[in-house]
This record gives sequence, C-alpha cells and structure tokens, in this order.
Amino acid sequence: MKFTCTAALTGLASLFCTQMAAADDIDVGVLLPFSGVYAALGNEIEAGFTLGLETFGSDLDVEIVLHREDTEVTPATGLTRARRLILQDDVDVMVGIVSSGVLGAIRDIVHGAEVPLIVANAGNDEATGADCSPYITRVSFSNSQVNRPMGTWMADQGIGTVYTLAPDYAAGRQMIDAFTAAYTAAGGTVVGSDFTPFQQTQDFGPYIAQAQASGAEALYVFYAGGEAISFVNQYDSFGAAEGLPLYGSGFLTSQLYVNAEGESADGIVTALHYVPTIDSPENAAFVEAFQAANDRLPSEFAVQGYDAARALIEALSTGANDRESIATALRQVSFTGPRGLLSIDPVTNNLIQPIYVYETVTGTDGMTQTVLAELPAEADPANGCAMPSVVSN
Ligand code: BEZ
Repeated sequence: MKFTCTAALTGLASLFCTQMAAADDIDVGVLLPFSGVYAALGNEIEAGFTLGLETFGSDLDVEIVLHREDTEVTPATGLTRARRLILQDDVDVMVGIVSSGVLGAIRDIVHGAEVPLIVANAGNDEATGADCSPYITRVSFSNSQVNRPMGTWMADQGIGTVYTLAPDYAAGRQMIDAFTAAYTAAGGTVVGSDFTPFQQTQDFGPYIAQAQASGAEALYVFYAGGEAISFVNQYDSFGAAEGLPLYGSGFLTSQLYVNAEGESADGIVTALHYVPTIDSPENAAFVEAFQAANDRLPSEFAVQGYDAARALIEALSTGANDRESIATALRQVSFTGPRGLLSIDPVTNNLIQPIYVYETVTGTDGMTQTVLAELPAEADPANGCAMPSVVSN
C-alpha cells in the first residue's frame, strides 16, 4: 500500500503527499476538526489514523488517496465539506467526525449518497439508533455506551446523590441522559443538572457554585478538549474537590490534555473505552509505536484513528473496492486491538467494547491513569434502529 493526499497534511503524513488520484485508487475523505475547540482531537485522530495505515496497510496492493477536509466544530461546515468529498472528489469512503452535532448534520447525505462513513469519534446515539444506516459504522464509542455503565458503577459505590453538568449540544445531553437513566435505575438521585453554552463558556464558576450549593455528594460531568482543561482547572481553583468529588466520562481527563490540567486532575474518577495504561501486549505495541512516531503517549482519540485505519484496511483486504462492498465489509470487521476485543454490532453498526473506570493520579512523569474496574463489553440497545440493507446496484 502507498498513501497520498490531496490537501496538505501535517507531520508524518506529509511524507506521503506525492501524487494525485487514479481510477483504481481508493479515495478516502478525512473529515476532522482542524480548527475550533476540538482541533487537538482532530489532529490526534489523524496521527492515529496515519500510524494505523502504516502499520496494517503494508501488504495491501492498492493506493489510498486521502482527501482532507476541516469540519471545524460547526454542523453547517461539516455538511458543506462532506458534500464536497462526496460530489466533487467522488470518494469511496469517509473517515472521521468528532462532534455529535456534525455527525447529525451529515447523516442524511451519507445515507442518501450511499457512501460508507467510519466514525472515528462522534458518539451521537442517534447515528447507531433511530438514524442508523448500513453506511455508518462506528469504531469509536456511543455517548450512552461510555456513560451508562458509570451510572450503575457510581450507585454501586454507595454515592447516593449527584449534580450533573455538560455543554449544551447533542453529545452533552445524550451523555448526561444515559448516565442519569442508569444511575437512577440503580437507586441514585440526580439533585440538579445544568448545561453550559457550548464553545462559549469561559467562566464555569457560577455553575460549580450551583453544584456545591445543591448539597450533592458528587459532581458528574462531560467536557472535552479546551473546555475540559478550563473546567478542571476552575473546579480545582474553586476548592470544590473538598466536599464535591468530581466524576465524569473520561474525555474530561484524556491523556491528550491531562498534563495541561496537571495536578488539578488528581483524584478525578471517570470512565472511558481506552487509557494508555491498559495492560495488554496489543496496547504495549501501540503505545510504543505511537510514542516513537509522535513523542507522546496516545489518547483515546489516537486509538480511534488507529482502529479506523485497521478497520478500513481489513475491509479493503477482502477485495472490497467500491462504496457498496466497502460498506458491507466494514460491518464485519472484528479484531483484538489496544483497547481489547472489538466487534461491530450488526443490529446497529456500533462498536462493542469494554469500558474502563479509571482514576487520574500524579505519576513520576506527569499525570497518569490507574484502572479501577474493567466493565464488560455490552451492545447498546437498538434504540429505534431498524437497519436498512445495503442497496445493491
Ligand atoms: C461528541 O461530540 O460526540 C464528542 C466530542 C468530543 C469528545 C467526545 C464526544
């Protein structure tokens, strides 16, 4: 395999930007935020994707041409860029999408144009629920998959009351809904909840004060990227840890930016599908290769890009070479990777994977993660998904 690109890539991948597409190439649209509040996440997914293509694609006898587009964190921009990839660049498959809002915006064009999309982040439950499509296969997580087990786990720890906070957009609302449903079903009570304006909140102080005043035993949140760093630092400077311990989905303390949070993150307990301290030979090999290429430890966003590349290569290795055959092959992908055994649920096209509860602790070389529990892999409920079949020409 050789891979090339049609827009300037950064870092390692730029080495491969050598030529334009030919008729028998596989054209891959890479749709990620390279600007805005999730830009670091987009760059990290791309770093993992590049490594995955190099690691798994060496025996593949086709050329992969990458067409790179910046979705920003804006649904309308994501839609414009997806349309360009589908109609102008005529891509065979698309990879990426970080924001649940952007995924919601492009769902209909992906499904209608019958272009396979490998979702490498956005957890939007609807995309593998009521709006599922045989052309949308997720190798990342769903918003409820990460938060539902944490609701049960926290109630089982004897935490009787919580207050919740999240940004006001699809992912924030879905993550908190899933947590709340599981937590209350297990006997806990949510005493209060608020949603902060997405990409606009600089001062979380009033929200943290409200949570403290609620008398809850704990605070449960979803924040990611720059908002996670601001939230954790402000929570710490408020002295809120005293009396209101912080829990959440693990994007809050991602390896990608936990060292920007520093010791403010010490003691926060969260759940996620990947941490770099998972003890397995597959993860050790991935961590070593990612560190060698990027000079830092990988995060969940890196592993999602890496596994997206592996899923694509496995699909192409079956001989799939057009939109329809790639969509069909992607749904059958299964392998043991850095985060454990992964398979695609044929009912929804969502990934089935274990979830790890972890505590962020201060290590000798920066912040690190102690895994407290590995929660078994469970398929999401179908959530309204009646999977249409792939359209045959
Ligand atoms: C989302 O919008 O689905 C999302 C964004 C960042 C981290 C996790 C989920």
